[in-house]
Amino acid sequence: MATYPRLASLKTFDDFQRRLDELGLELPADREVTAGAESVLAQSAQAGTLAIGNRFCILPMEGWDGTSDGKPSDLTRRRWKHFGISGAKLMWGGEAVAVRHDGRANPNQLCLTEANQKDIAQLRELLIAAHVERFGDDDGLVVGLQLTHSGRYAKPNDHHTPEPRIVQRNPALDPRVRVDDDTPILTDDALKALIDDFVAAAARAQKLGFDFVDIKHCHGYLGHELLSGIDRPGEFGGSFENRTRFLRDIVAGIRSEAPGLELGVRLSVFDFVPYCQAESGVGVPDPLADPRLVFGSTPGGDGIDLTEPLRFLELMQQLGMRLICTTAGSPYYTPHLQRPAFFPPSDGYQPPEDPLVGVQRQIAATAQLKQRFPEMFVVGSGYTYLQDWLPNVAQAVIRDRLADSIGLGRMVLSYPDLPADVLEGQTLARKRICRTFSDCTTAPRKGMISGCYPLDTYYKEMPERKQLQELKKLSVRNS
Ligand SMILES: Cc1cc2nc3c(=O)[nH]c(=O)nc-3n(C[C@H](O)[C@H](O)[C@H](O)COP(=O)(O)O)c2cc1C
Ligand code: SF4
Repeated sequence: MATYPRLASLKTFDDFQRRLDELGLELPADREVTAGAESVLAQSAQAGTLAIGNRFCILPMEGWDGTSDGKPSDLTRRRWKHFGISGAKLMWGGEAVAVRHDGRANPNQLCLTEANQKDIAQLRELLIAAHVERFGDDDGLVVGLQLTHSGRYAKPNDHHTPEPRIVQRNPALDPRVRVDDDTPILTDDALKALIDDFVAAAARAQKLGFDFVDIKHCHGYLGHELLSGIDRPGEFGGSFENRTRFLRDIVAGIRSEAPGLELGVRLSVFDFVPYCQAESGVGVPDPLADPRLVFGSTPGGDGIDLTEPLRFLELMQQLGMRLICTTAGSPYYTPHLQRPAFFPPSDGYQPPEDPLVGVQRQIAATAQLKQRFPEMFVVGSGYTYLQDWLPNVAQAVIRDRLADSIGLGRMVLSYPDLPADVLEGQTLARKRICRTFSDCTTAPRKGMISGCYPLDTYYKEMPERKQLQELKKLSVRNS
């Protein structure tokens, strides 16, 4: 079991600061948080043609709760309404939406087909209506859609049956998704057909009224895996130019089919080799890992090297893109980088470091990108673990221009209107603060809908909560 102090035990700002000092972490944090129009978090900003009303952003989060044909359910609609009342003015994509069936990460993921488009358009409308009802207007509200193909992590038909579409072999990751030596890698022609599907989905998103699309390149999914495809032969592998062809061709297609649509990328800006659980339960680098196959890492696969991620941003700028949302690693093989948590998900491992280290790592890497590319609008991620001290760090990050917007993930599942409370100067509702119990990750790993079972009353009362508790007990017994 981890021996780090729980963040909730750091009762005062001085306690928090002392812990940062003990860890030797340079993390900006303001003692006092300003509310109202004076707050830097309330300032509007321009990103390309988009005027964004404040500095909070809702990060994309799937709920594993769509219908089997990829339409939203009542639970999906509830989540999008919550995003609308959050008080954040930027919606980075809502949730990952597959551009076609075989790219779905789970059999209940949304899929932007022609048959589903009206229902997906309604999600945006519900979000905006909820925002207007709570705040009076939708001035400065910007809603994007995240487009994805899940690649190696595709499970389009059954929660327990991976149907990976890989772009190169990976000795540590292949056995985890039942890829054996005979599994074919996607051909260049297959990737070209997929590019067409991304373009078609983007054109649809534009018609439905979305302000931008995110061409997802993170978390080990297909776009991200291509970036580390140094062993892949052909037009999409090897050199940096080839590994970024997927992005360039999608952008070119969208410019021709959906002119005027703003484009962004959610990028895992660094990664480490895949981790696994040691006998002690703590996460360690997987001995099978090939450290060459890691985008944004030092040669050993255990440190950050932003050389190529910086080139990627340069390319985005050349392509006329202004929107970037940073994240790190993958929830499947480096969850401690991606969503720092005190309690790991069932398929994870005990944190190998104080989760504050993971938070600081993402903030510092994001700051480096922002400093090198000041014209880009940069959204940062991984703030939820800061819990009570999230507003103090958020304000300092924006004031010091280390990012342009504070992205919130898990925190808005447990406490949807935290941004509104911060901006209005309300005392935070401590009982609603996400304590990183990871049930929202564990549930889908068990084939169940995701949600904040511990803190959201709606999920607390669901029969699934009991089922999840039983399954978690079983996992502990079997481990
Ligand atoms: C339940 C759940 C679903 C998620 N789904 C997505 C997704 O669809 N697309 C994506 O880019 N990130 C997804 N993420 C990652 C979050 O956007 C975010 O990067 C991560 O939770 C770290 O931010 P946080 O510390 O504020 O939670 C998901 C995270 C969670 C917890
Ligand atoms: S289940 Fe709730 S408390 Fe746990 S990590 Fe998810 S949002 Fe946070």
